[in-house]
Amino acid sequence: MKVGIIGSGDVSRALGTGFVALGHEVRLGSRTADNPKAMAWAKETQGKGSHGTFADAAAFGEIVVLATFGMATGNAIRLAGVSQFDGKVVIDATNPLAFSDRGLPSLALSGSTSAGEENQKALPKAHVVKAFNIVNNAHMFRPTFSDGPPDMIICGNNAAAKKKVEGLLHEFGWPSVLDIGGIEGSRELESLCVLWVKSSMSLGNFNSAFKLLRK
Ligand SMILES: NC(=O)c1ccc[n+]([C@@H]2O[C@H](COP(=O)([O-])OP(=O)(O)OC[C@H]3O[C@@H](n4cnc5c(N)ncnc54)[C@H](OP(=O)(O)O)[C@@H]3O)[C@@H](O)[C@H]2O)c1
Repeated sequence: MKVGIIGSGDVSRALGTGFVALGHEVRLGSRTADNPKAMAWAKETQGKGSHGTFADAAAFGEIVVLATFGMATGNAIRLAGVSQFDGKVVIDATNPLAFSDRGLPSLALSGSTSAGEENQKALPKAHVVKAFNIVNNAHMFRPTFSDGPPDMIICGNNAAAKKKVEGLLHEFGWPSVLDIGGIEGSRELESLCVLWVKSSMSLGNFNSAFKLLRK
C-alpha cells in the first residue's frame, strides 16, 4: 500500500519507518521538497521511502497520515490541497498543543471542538480517524512495555475507515484497539495527550502508555 505522511517530524519518521518495515511504500511531505530530515529519512529506507511536498505526499498516499504541528495542520492541509484527500482514510495523529513558558502543555483547541473535528471539517470528503496521538513516537511501532501491550484508542465517523486503521494498528503491534465512537471523541483523546505529557514529565521520561484495566 502507498502511504502519504503529511509532516517530517519525529512522528512522521517513526510511523514512516513502521510502514516501511511492514512492506508499504511511504512518502513524507514537508512545506519544502528538500526538507533535510525527510531527505535523510528517505535515504535510510533504501528505496522504500521517498519525500516531497505536502501535496506530493497527499497525492501519493492511498492512505494519508496527518503528523504536523497541531495548530499548523489546517495550513498543511491547504498547502497539500484539500481534494488530494478525497475518498481516502486519513489517520490524524495530531494534538493542538500550546506550551506555557514553563513548558507545560495545554490544548489550544478544546471545549466544543478539537483538532480531529476541525481536520474532518477541513477534509469533508475524507474519512478522518484519530489514532496514535496518545503515545510517544518512540512507542508507536511495536510497543513493548513490561506491563504488557498498551491500548490504542481511536475515533472517527466512518466505520469502514476505523476498521482499516484498526487492522493497521494490529500490524503495528497494537493488539488492543478501543473505538470510542465519532470524531468528536478527539476532544477526550487530545486531552489524554495532555495528561500523558504531564504524567511523563512527572515520571521523568516518555516510556509509558495507556492501558484500560478490565475485569
Ligand atoms: N512527538 C511525539 O512523540 C508525538 C506523539 C503523539 C502525537 N504527536 C503529535 O503529532 C504531531 C507531529 O509531532 P512531531 O513531534 O512529529 O512534529 P512537530 O514538530 O509537532 O511538527 C512538525 C511538522 O509540522 C510542520 N509545520 C510546522 N509549522 C507549520 C506551518 N506553519 N504550516 C504547515 N506545517 C507546519 C512541519 O513542516 P516541515 O516539514 O516543513 O518542517 C513538520 O512537518 C503534533 O501534532 C504532535 O502533537 C507527537
